[in-house]
Amino acid sequence: MSDMPKSLVLAGAGKMGGALLRGWLAPGLNGNAVTVLDPFPQEDLKALCAASGARLNPPAADRAAPQVLVLAIKPQSLGEAAASLAPLVGPQTLVVSILAGKTLSDIAAALPARAIVRAMPNTPAAVGRGITGAAASPGVTPAQRAQAQALLAAVGAVEWVADERLIDAVTAVSGSGPAYVFYLVECLAAAGAAAGLPADIAMRLARATIEGSGELLHRDAAAPVAQLRKNVTSPGGTTAAALDVLMAPDGLAPLMARAVSAAKQRAAELSG
Ligand SMILES: NC(=O)c1ccc[n+]([C@@H]2O[C@H](COP(=O)([O-])OP(=O)(O)OC[C@H]3O[C@@H](n4cnc5c(N)ncnc54)[C@H](OP(=O)(O)O)[C@@H]3O)[C@@H](O)[C@H]2O)c1
Repeated sequence: MSDMPKSLVLAGAGKMGGALLRGWLAPGLNGNAVTVLDPFPQEDLKALCAASGARLNPPAADRAAPQVLVLAIKPQSLGEAAASLAPLVGPQTLVVSILAGKTLSDIAAALPARAIVRAMPNTPAAVGRGITGAAASPGVTPAQRAQAQALLAAVGAVEWVADERLIDAVTAVSGSGPAYVFYLVECLAAAGAAAGLPADIAMRLARATIEGSGELLHRDAAAPVAQLRKNVTSPGGTTAAALDVLMAPDGLAPLMARAVSAAKQRAAELSG
C-alpha cells in the first residue's frame, strides 16, 4: 500500500466511485487522506466517511489540491463540474478519470491537468473482483502511475494499454462484459426450461454453473481456459455434443466477435 497517495479527492461517490472508496479504505488507505465530493450523499456514504475519517463535502475554502483527484461523476456532468474541480488540480496533481467516453484530451480540456490516467473499471469492482483497463497521458510520472495502479488495484486487477484508443476495446470486453455473462445465464436458464426443467430450477442451475465456473477460473488462474473446457469434455459425450453446436463456424465465436465489435464502435462514437 506504500504507493497509495497521501491525499486524495474523490469527485462522485455513486456506484463506481463508492466501490472504489470502499476498496481503498478496506486495506488501509487512511481515511484522513480522503476527501469525498458528492452533492447528495447517501446515508451509507455518510456513515462510511464518518467511520473512516474521510472528509465529506468540506467547504470550498477548506479544499486543497490533492496528490490524486479521482473523477467518478457521470460523463455528462464533467462540463458542469469542471469549474469547481479545477482549483483542486495543482501542478503535481494526478487526475484519474473513470468517465466512460471521455478521452485524455477531453479531461485536459476541462481541467488544468498535466498528468491524467483514463481508466475503465467494471462492476465486479463492487466485490473487489473487478478488472480495470488504464491508459496514461505522457505527463504521468512513474510514481504517479504507481499511485494509479495502487488505487485501481484496490478493487481488482489492472491492465495498462499503451495506446489510449484501445480503451474502446477494453470497454467492449471487460467494461460491458459482465452484462454478456449475465445474459449467458439468462440464455442457459431459458434453454434449460425449454429442455423440460421447471424455470426456477433451470435458473438456479444456470446461475450456480456460471458462479462456480467463474470461481474455478479464479482459483486456477494459471490454467489455460481451453484446458478447463477440455477437462469437462469427454470425446463423444454430452458436453462435446453441445460444443459441436457452440463451436461451429456460425456458433458463439463469430457472434461474440460481432457483439464486441458493436460495443467497441459505440464506445468510439461516445468518445466523439
Ligand atoms: N458503473 C459502471 O459499470 C462503470 C464502469 C466503468 C466506468 N464507469 C463510469 O463511472 C462513472 C460513474 O458511474 P456510476 O455508475 O458510479 O454513476 P452514479 O452512480 O450516478 O455516480 C455518479 C455520482 O457522482 C455524483 N456527482 C454528480 N455531479 C457531481 C459533482 N459535480 N461533483 C461531485 N459529485 C457529483 C452523483 O450525484 P447525484 O446522483 O446526486 O447526481 C453520483 O453520486 C461514470 O462516468 C461512468 O462512465 C461506470
